[in-house]
Amino acid sequence: MTIQRTLVLCKPDAVQRGMVGQIISRFERKGLKMVGLKMMKVDRDLASRHYQEHVTKPFYEELCSFITSSPLVAMAIEGENAVAVVRNLMGVTNPQDAASGTIRGDFGLNLTMNLVHGSDSPASAKRELDLFFAPEELHDYELALEPWT
Ligand code: RTP
Ligand code: MG
Repeated sequence: MTIQRTLVLCKPDAVQRGMVGQIISRFERKGLKMVGLKMMKVDRDLASRHYQEHVTKPFYEELCSFITSSPLVAMAIEGENAVAVVRNLMGVTNPQDAASGTIRGDFGLNLTMNLVHGSDSPASAKRELDLFFAPEELHDYELALEPWT
């Protein structure tokens, strides 16, 4: 059993469309634990550090403009194999290809405005959580129902 932490972003389109609550619900009902949560406006510096792997991609500029366009909600999520489990709940990158039942499959149509971000590996999760959260913003606590999930 590997307990992991991962970064989820409810991207600016999720905030603007009023879908943050529904997105958070999906992680909660799966049995994952929120250990950090905040609204923030991402600036260019944070955007470029977060998306450093995409700097050479043709969509990089559009992506950075989008992620800095309006506030987002950042979440740290903890649970067994949380990195992969969160990615499965989100669905594949393009919402038009994402399976029904996933966040992107159920809520999205647009490749850039695809509602959520999830770290793609444990190493990315550590790097990205360090970018978005100070240590004191992450909480170690027990949930009473944990033995049942
Ligand atoms: P994310 O990082 O947001 O969790 O998404 P991902 O791993 O599924 O996709 P990734 O390849 O890391 O791409 C990051 C984000 O860039 C936008 N994108 N636009 N126009 C395009 O061809 C294109 N491709 C990707 C999406 O917003 C994607 O989530
Ligand atoms: Mg990615």
